[in-house]
Amino acid sequence: MIKIGIDYYPEHWPPALWEEDAARMERLGVHVVRVAEFAWSRLEPEEGRFDFSWLDEAIAVLSRHGMKVILGTPTNCGPMWLYHDHPETLQRGRSGQPSLTGIRGHRCMQSPTFRRYAGRIVEEMARRYAGRPEIFAWQIDNELDSNHCTCPACTAGFRDYLREKYGTLEALNEAWGTVVWSGEYSAWEQISIQTEEGCLADWYNPARMLDYERYAAACTADYVRFQAELIRRYDPAAVITTNSCFPAHMPDFHQEFAPLDVASYDNYPPVRLPENPEALYSNAFALDFVRSFKQQNFWIMEQLGGPMGGWSPITPAMEPGMLEGYALQAVAHGADLISFFRWRTACTGAEMFCHGLLDHDNRPNRRLEELERLCRRLEGLPELNRTTLHSQVALLYSSEQEFALKNQRQSEGFAYWTQLRLFHNACMSLGVNVDVLPETAPLEGYRVALVPTHFITDPQVVANLETFAQAGGTVVITNRSGVKDKHGNCVLGQPLPTLLRKLCGCTVAEYDAIGPATQQITTSQGSSYRVTSWCDLLTPETAEVWARYTGRFYAGTPAITRNRFGKGWAYYVGTVGEKALYRALLLEILPRQGIPAMDMLPVGVEVTERTGPGGSYRFIFNNTLHGQSFPMNGQTVTLGAMEVLIQTGDGQWR
Ligand code: GLA
Ligand code: ZN
Repeated sequence: MIKIGIDYYPEHWPPALWEEDAARMERLGVHVVRVAEFAWSRLEPEEGRFDFSWLDEAIAVLSRHGMKVILGTPTNCGPMWLYHDHPETLQRGRSGQPSLTGIRGHRCMQSPTFRRYAGRIVEEMARRYAGRPEIFAWQIDNELDSNHCTCPACTAGFRDYLREKYGTLEALNEAWGTVVWSGEYSAWEQISIQTEEGCLADWYNPARMLDYERYAAACTADYVRFQAELIRRYDPAAVITTNSCFPAHMPDFHQEFAPLDVASYDNYPPVRLPENPEALYSNAFALDFVRSFKQQNFWIMEQLGGPMGGWSPITPAMEPGMLEGYALQAVAHGADLISFFRWRTACTGAEMFCHGLLDHDNRPNRRLEELERLCRRLEGLPELNRTTLHSQVALLYSSEQEFALKNQRQSEGFAYWTQLRLFHNACMSLGVNVDVLPETAPLEGYRVALVPTHFITDPQVVANLETFAQAGGTVVITNRSGVKDKHGNCVLGQPLPTLLRKLCGCTVAEYDAIGPATQQITTSQGSSYRVTSWCDLLTPETAEVWARYTGRFYAGTPAITRNRFGKGWAYYVGTVGEKALYRALLLEILPRQGIPAMDMLPVGVEVTERTGPGGSYRFIFNNTLHGQSFPMNGQTVTLGAMEVLIQTGDGQWR
């Protein structure tokens, strides 16, 4: 059964309310309750004095009402005594200044002092709750970002990381090309991780920045592993996760989740629906991306339960159907557990207007009714968790590209995330399941590999793609691929796309970073598309021309090519197009690979399918605020705003 959860903060409410809260949750049909992820100051009110009595009591109340608990380790928020007595546990900002307390997440994940205190509270909890039947799972910390701290411990850690990686300073200087601007290091102590406040990352050596991002992400992954190992020492059978979001400093999620049992995500899709249809499907991408972290079904640890606000102005009220629709959208993309944020809106603190399911008045409301409807609906599909998405289309992702492109902008408006989404959006608009895969993942079982911007070039990835195409697969590669080596440097004497030249059968004669300007391309079939941002001027070698530019001094020059490679094909898309371009490409590629594409879906309608021993379920979700209808398999499908229809293998609508 798909599990429904609630994020609950017993420490925010008088204990007299706990019983009533639990009874209401039980009536709704809630299975699990997440607690304690910010409660350090109540669990260890002063150094070394632990108090689990209130947590025991809260767990007992919940468990009397048939619910299990997801225990959060409270390490996101160190208590004030810790930061005061041990200021070295405070995270330091870009230019080295300690962060000021009063919000949350002030801690440095690498600080040995912090690790000692965090390790102790985690151990205390693990020892106490290990093996207890009330515990469903563990959540480590909260919404971890990449550890961009510049404290002395983090600085020393970076130098160690580099020593380990390069061995000598000569090798490091060579790899980073530090001769530019007299940046050569003659002692390890000269290497700093601080950067000038307000100064763009682009001013710093990109090779150094890339290694720094790798290091910061490795710190986060190490912090997760550290906590997971402590929990497992006491509770070897523990199911452990951490709740991800997409912060400014993105971690390497594949590395971060490697030591954990299940990936989780905090799902806050837009309440104010985008009027621009190009922006639709973005939440679908986020969900497919999260499924890629462990290439298996995942959990939602925080699901939109009410209008957001508190530290931001309050968003509009949730439209009818939105609470249920967005939760089922997550299930449609592989979620097996949905925990709603939060039970009741806080009356104090920065998030007092970040609404939970219940408002401050604590009365029954529309959102709670919708949650109840969702629970009943999922109870009617008890085998759904024994299914997952199967896909023949792989969209390759790597945090390397994320890091490198974020720190060195290529063209105004050009972003890795956008590149990924353009392809994903096109698949969604055609009702095609997509797996986001780590770039280095094996491609067996897939028919199409979409490779937006393979900027930092990995010879192993190139070899995989060649083998894939050789055997009959179709590869789609875009502009800004093959540009850099593994250090983040450009390569002398090889035309772009360097290592991908043979596969793509073309070279880039020149490029034009047009930024927000637009122009046209025309295909050999005579269709025209608007393009923006970037224009590679292509010279086909073995490839044929798929589309040409119509403007600027290079009118008539190839923009997109298609190359026969072994039994398969490699497309090279030298520019960034409007959405219709990617649809057109896929409408050519998918049928040739025997993948059905639904070109009749109205904009904003998503179709995905979960299959497995539990049966087959087709989800049809209308992610718009107006009704839609369209023909499917000889029937007319009609959906209301935000409605989700589920069709089981026997043709029944559920
Ligand atoms: C994040 C956090 C929660 C809460 C919500 C509210 O996802 O994990 O603690 O702050 O945002 O927006
Ligand atoms: Zn630090």
